[in-house]
Amino acid sequence: MTATALVHAATSRRTKKSSRSKLSVAGPPIPPTSKSISANGTLKDTPANRALRVAVTPQSSFTAEPFVRDAFFHDDRSVLFCQDVLPGLDHLRDSRIKVDCIVTSPPFYGQRDYGIDDQIGLEDHPQQYIDKLVKVFSKCWDVLSETGSLWVNLGDTFWSGKGAHKSNEVKQSARRFGLRPQDKPGDGKWARPKQLLLIPHRFAIAMQDCGWLVRNDNVWVKPNPVPDQVRDRCSISHEYVFHFTKARWYYFDQREVGRQVGTSMLPPLDTWVVPTARGTGVHKASFSEELVRLPILATTPPDGIVLDPFNGSGTSMVVAHTSGKRAIGIDLSREYCSLAKDALTAAKG
Ligand SMILES: C[S@@+](CC[C@H](N)C(=O)[O-])C[C@H]1O[C@@H](n2cnc3c(N)ncnc32)[C@H](O)[C@@H]1O
Repeated sequence: MTATALVHAATSRRTKKSSRSKLSVAGPPIPPTSKSISANGTLKDTPANRALRVAVTPQSSFTAEPFVRDAFFHDDRSVLFCQDVLPGLDHLRDSRIKVDCIVTSPPFYGQRDYGIDDQIGLEDHPQQYIDKLVKVFSKCWDVLSETGSLWVNLGDTFWSGKGAHKSNEVKQSARRFGLRPQDKPGDGKWARPKQLLLIPHRFAIAMQDCGWLVRNDNVWVKPNPVPDQVRDRCSISHEYVFHFTKARWYYFDQREVGRQVGTSMLPPLDTWVVPTARGTGVHKASFSEELVRLPILATTPPDGIVLDPFNGSGTSMVVAHTSGKRAIGIDLSREYCSLAKDALTAAKG
């Protein structure tokens, strides 16, 4: 079964939405294995089982006036902030909001100019970009529950060193915008022409150095990649979706995303074949819904909170909503916040 089919199957299994009135202790999901049940039929008191009994943020904190006062959009299930990610995350921390699942796609290095001050992704050197991302995710650490998961989608970048783009070819100019950081001369070592920068794994190693546990470097395989205009290497058709946790024991509901083989439930594969969501809207780098479904279903307990700190057009918030979870988004761009608000409003009918 492909990852796309697998994710679809998982979604159709979970149609029942969680009760919206009960908010204190969620779960537990079905015990993961028979080994976790004691002779008298109760769940053994083990760290793994305790991680399945998650106390989610109370609804009173989620809808508190000081928390939602400056939101771009809010209702009792979703809150969207239009601001820089760093003060946005500070606001969540100060409001004592703990989220259960963070799923996000930061701006990739040198790939787009979002045309807004303080945007991430156009730093002169790739190390500055990685340092900024690590700083953002260290603030995510403060708002992620101890049993929570962080999922980060990242693609890589080649250094070009070619200077500003001159071609009038339409596709090229849509992808290139003036002098991108990778078009500059570079440092002659890591940043030099033709180099694949290996940003995703350098970022993951920097995250490990800060205390995060890397659980998977899932590969998003794209069956419909944007054609590469090159003659001397393979065409790139994948990105990564890293799964990080804070602790050894964390919430993961394999029933939601596993592969049923006979009577056994096997874990999902770490290769996800999912078409890109191309040409579906104004946002040029939006998630496919399939890509965020597995993270949200597996690692958000009933009525838990999903956070996307680089929310864009709001795909994570929409999938969180349709899966019965609460959602918080942060994005610097008013244009994308409007798109996300519209998408959420449509999803809520
Ligand atoms: C790759 S896109 C996210 C796309 C999103 N996953 C979706 O499905 O549409 C990255 C987003 O990060 C936002 N962004 C860039 N710098 C930011 C910053 N400093 N603070 C908050 N958002 C930022 C951009 O506006 C853009 O929408």
